[in-house]
Amino acid sequence: MRRYLVAGNWKMNLKQESALALAKALAAACPGGDTRIDVLVAPPFPYLLPVKQAVAGSNVTVGAQNAYFEQPGAFTGETSVEMIADCGCKAVILGHSERRHVLGETDAVINKKVKAVLAKGLDVILCVGELLADRDAGNTEAVLDEQMKGGLAGISEEQMAKIVIAYEPVWAIGTGRTASPEQAESAHAHLRNWLKTHYTAGVADTTRILYGGSVKPDNAAELMGQPDVDGALVGGASLKPEQFLPIIQAAQGLTR
Ligand code: PGA
Repeated sequence: MRRYLVAGNWKMNLKQESALALAKALAAACPGGDTRIDVLVAPPFPYLLPVKQAVAGSNVTVGAQNAYFEQPGAFTGETSVEMIADCGCKAVILGHSERRHVLGETDAVINKKVKAVLAKGLDVILCVGELLADRDAGNTEAVLDEQMKGGLAGISEEQMAKIVIAYEPVWAIGTGRTASPEQAESAHAHLRNWLKTHYTAGVADTTRILYGGSVKPDNAAELMGQPDVDGALVGGASLKPEQFLPIIQAAQGLTR
């Protein structure tokens, strides 16, 4: 059965001291050898290495929030997958709605990044999600299909073992407005069916699909308790141990 993954996306938040304090608190609460669930944090680039060192030996792994698809070279301001791997990261979040809608990333760019990350042996957390206007127009599933098709173009069945999908309705991100458990389950079931149609029943059964968008301690258990929800991608509530730890505990309590 799919193991829960609770991932914290710190976005462009925290400073060196607060990032380290948070990492240490999470490491203390998630000792190594606890294999009930997977826990990952994605700090801003300048803090990847110190955070990685702070969580060493614990059950917390570290990922990046973005990566550039080119090999190391003359790309001022970008960060290669190689560098991210060199910092001990195990995964990269790609296609986040802020990258899509604020930084203008297209499915084609995201797809290049997916391939670059997989080529270096790291996992991908591929985010997909509709705008409120898409949902209101009844286009949620069409938008999800398009983002899945574009983001995963050319990705083989074997490579899917390194991919996690995160369903993040844009209208629920940072707004305090969470998808209802029914809305989340319906989108997740649709995504799982997409995986079955475009890959195999095996890929659909084993690929983890996280929910993201205003996940908080008081809604985490209900959301993650849905049959097709395999964990959470948490933004705001991942910045404070007193909010992130109860979400981790909720997943531990649900362990399948
Ligand atoms: P939020 O962000 O939990 O603050 O809504 C989620 C995300 O963007 O991954």
